[in-house]
Amino acid sequence: MIKIVVIHGPNLNLLGLREPEVYGALNLQQINDRIQELARREGLEVRIHQSNSEGVIVDHIHAALEWADAIVINPAAYTHTSVAIRDAITAVRLPTVEVHMSNVHRREPFRHHSYVSPVVVGQVVGFGPESYTLGLLAAKRTVEEQRR
Ligand code: DQA
Repeated sequence: MIKIVVIHGPNLNLLGLREPEVYGALNLQQINDRIQELARREGLEVRIHQSNSEGVIVDHIHAALEWADAIVINPAAYTHTSVAIRDAITAVRLPTVEVHMSNVHRREPFRHHSYVSPVVVGQVVGFGPESYTLGLLAAKRTVEEQRR
């Protein structure tokens, strides 16, 4: 069975409440339920974490090494600032998919740069909660291709 860790970054615990015009009305639990529903349909084992702290996110990436075949991560604001998260992804060498609910490229210029993008397999941006499910499918396909 393919095992995938999903990591949500800072402020994503406030989804539903936070800028619903940008991120939509679903809260994090509802998004996680959708992720687990897709995981069941696709025969994936998925563990989900959320943290507002950069170091804790780095620890979750390190811990993925013990268990996961791939990572799906929305580093949220740390996307645009964190060399530590980028280095952690590089260090563990697990195929990683970067997701963003909003289309960061249509927003403020500071959101256009991602420290993470150069070290991931690919990016899914702009599909709201579906960015996560599309990201999960992309991660699954990447692992399947690696195993072929
Ligand atoms: C986000 C985009 C980031 O720029 C922002 O800081 C977030 C969420 C997204 O999912 O669209 O917190 O990663």
